[in-house]
Amino acid sequence: MYDSTVVIGAQWGDEGKGKIVDFLAEKADVVVRFNGGNNAGHTIKANGETFKLHIIPSGVVRDKQVVIANGVVVDPKVLIDEIEMLRKMGYEPNLVLSANAHVIMHYHKIFDAKTDKTSKIGTTGRGIGPAYSDKAKRTEAIRMADFVGNAFDLRLSKILESKKHDLLRYGVITSAKNFDEYRQSLLGEYRKYADFIRPYVYDTTLIINQALDEGKNVLFEGAQGTLLDVDHGTYPYVTSSNTCAGGACTGAGVGPNRIAHVIGVTKAYTTRVGEGPFPTELKNDEGELLRKTGCEYGTTTGRPRRCGWLDLVILKYAKMVNGLTNLAITKLDVLSGLEKIKVCTSYEIGGKKTDLMPSSAEELENVKPVYLELDGWNKWSEQEATEIARRGIKALPEQAQAYLKFIESKSGVPISIVSIGAGRDETIIV
Ligand code: IMP
Ligand code: MG
Repeated sequence: MYDSTVVIGAQWGDEGKGKIVDFLAEKADVVVRFNGGNNAGHTIKANGETFKLHIIPSGVVRDKQVVIANGVVVDPKVLIDEIEMLRKMGYEPNLVLSANAHVIMHYHKIFDAKTDKTSKIGTTGRGIGPAYSDKAKRTEAIRMADFVGNAFDLRLSKILESKKHDLLRYGVITSAKNFDEYRQSLLGEYRKYADFIRPYVYDTTLIINQALDEGKNVLFEGAQGTLLDVDHGTYPYVTSSNTCAGGACTGAGVGPNRIAHVIGVTKAYTTRVGEGPFPTELKNDEGELLRKTGCEYGTTTGRPRRCGWLDLVILKYAKMVNGLTNLAITKLDVLSGLEKIKVCTSYEIGGKKTDLMPSSAEELENVKPVYLELDGWNKWSEQEATEIARRGIKALPEQAQAYLKFIESKSGVPISIVSIGAGRDETIIV
């Protein structure tokens, strides 16, 4: 058995994967990002500081070998800024970056912002979709190997020629003269980035597989969540990569038989940013209360997150498409102090009850969630949280234990971690 764990989001992202990965990274040798780009935002509280990471794997905070694998799209400027930020905080990232990862260019960001105005997916505007589109299109993409190689100038010039129409259409350039100025300025800017990044570029597939061969502990850190997966999410209201556990295999170049554990991270309630269906959304004071108590504002864009009750239909679906072996429940503390807590156990569609996920976003838009009401529990202080974490799950208020048991029995996935506060020591290991 290989010593490997995939950590993915079981909802629409922002489940608190950063904290869980940071926690598990203590025992890891290598931490790998395998999908998405700097649309992700992972917040970690450690060593008395708060880290907001977008592209570098959370394991960096523990001085682990961190890998950005082939499935990721990388904005070089964001990567450089993050490396420099970490250096200022006293961390020298032990980072390798896949030669096959794709580069997010300036025009991708402009295209993203402009097209989202009409397509209304509510993207993060970071150029993620356009960069993955170019990857799938094959003729206009730039991989890290191209980017740091000798032929970059020539390749970029050719790509810009074939993108001229779109550059004009989206107002990136306005004329032939302007086109040449744009080309020159891009070349100048990105050559500097390439010089900075060159020493980090490796064959990461080999590095990861060798680590597994040597019996090292490898942690795969997912970004976004199951329902944002381009194949298995609420399409088209999804991101452009595979956020599910299988994405770790394609996005890092490891065989499925080398993955030992799959941990699904889920909040004790549900949030979503951007557009798309969300059956248990609370568009009332209760939703506002969850947002305030849980500080539910995007790490990347600052947008208020849409909030609602926990949805077990979604959790069961996440179990299926990811092959979850364990659950990590986060932000249980946010529910503290509520008199009653609702959980969605099934959907009503056209008068019929089902606990299966509908296959289209349109259908999901029209389901009526069926709730079960459970008793709430009193708030605990930060100090009490540390004490509860030390003593284990039995130290939680009875009703909180009942809530967790209910999730476990309905989802059929054992809970192995419960986070009851933002700090490292506010974590219960079951
Ligand atoms: P994109 O990934 O920027 O193309 O955005 C597509 C959708 O995914 C939008 O609804 C975003 O709000 C959402 N999204 C992308 N990354 C994240 C994330 O890290 N957390 C939560 N939502 C995300
Ligand atoms: Mg996030």
